[in-house]
Amino acid sequence: MPMKPGTLGDWIAYAAMRLSKARLHFGHGTHNAAEEAAWLVQSVAGIPYDRLAASLDTSLTPAQQRRAEKLIEERIGSRAPLAYLLHEAWLGEERFYVDRRVIVPRSFIAELLPKSLAPWIVDPKRIRRALDLCTGSGCLAVLLALAFPQAKVDAIDISPAALVVARRNVRAYGLESRVRLLRSDLFAGLAAVPYEVIVANPPYVNARGVKHLPLEYRHEPALALAGGRDGLDFVRRIINDAPGFLAPRGLLIVEVGHNRKALERVFPSLPFTWLQTSRGDGFVFLLAREDLTRH
Ligand SMILES: C[S@@+](CC[C@H](N)C(=O)[O-])C[C@H]1O[C@@H](n2cnc3c(N)ncnc32)[C@H](O)[C@@H]1O
Repeated sequence: MPMKPGTLGDWIAYAAMRLSKARLHFGHGTHNAAEEAAWLVQSVAGIPYDRLAASLDTSLTPAQQRRAEKLIEERIGSRAPLAYLLHEAWLGEERFYVDRRVIVPRSFIAELLPKSLAPWIVDPKRIRRALDLCTGSGCLAVLLALAFPQAKVDAIDISPAALVVARRNVRAYGLESRVRLLRSDLFAGLAAVPYEVIVANPPYVNARGVKHLPLEYRHEPALALAGGRDGLDFVRRIINDAPGFLAPRGLLIVEVGHNRKALERVFPSLPFTWLQTSRGDGFVFLLAREDLTRH
């Protein structure tokens, strides 16, 4: 550990040591103390991630050093995810504003758009209508609009507070004319116009899981996490109602956390395709409209 951190590299090492000693939970945009330290210091220094390696010898100003120290203290003292302290979260290359009105974006669906859908969507430019159920910060709605450049995207959430954050992100990406934000209880408030793609990252933590969540998750809206006794309350409703909102050969793509086995027990005859993500193939399923209507 450097006794007196000065350069960016020193500060990353120092922050990593402090965060690691504090036995925090990582999983809101980073996997470990070193990654989180790099994010914290890089953000304080205002250096883009791709220039970090070349900037390790740069000195932090005294004001930046004070801010870095304060953020380290806050992260350890409050156990709030760093994303809330910085008011930013990243999905791949895309940055989103976040605060405690929304969950910190980390959906696997972000990794899949649009490349992993190539077997089903040959030409992303031909997608005209897409829906993001449970949009939270609006992150997946924005990514849908970027992945499908000709599409109109509807994005719904039941939380008016979350929709305020989503509106801010949609505006930051200049997508107001293509992304429409609506308050709705899943499909209840939507007209039955057919969508070619529906994505959903609904609340899916089961009752037992909710009780054992690390402290970091208690800073997130409970409404965004709790999925009922078996975690499948929302997923069941989505599967049952989706056929009425999908175009012919339209796709339903849903993240289910660790509930793959439970879901396959509930719907034994549905031919789920489990999409490959960076953590394996048990977290996001795809079903075409015809798979849903035949079962
Ligand atoms: C797991 S978060 C996902 C947020 C965002 N899509 C993401 O991936 O970061 C689930 C979201 O579902 C919303 N939600 C909870 N119950 C809902 C309901 N009945 N209808 C619509 N949205 C709901 C919550 O407000 C929350 O924003």
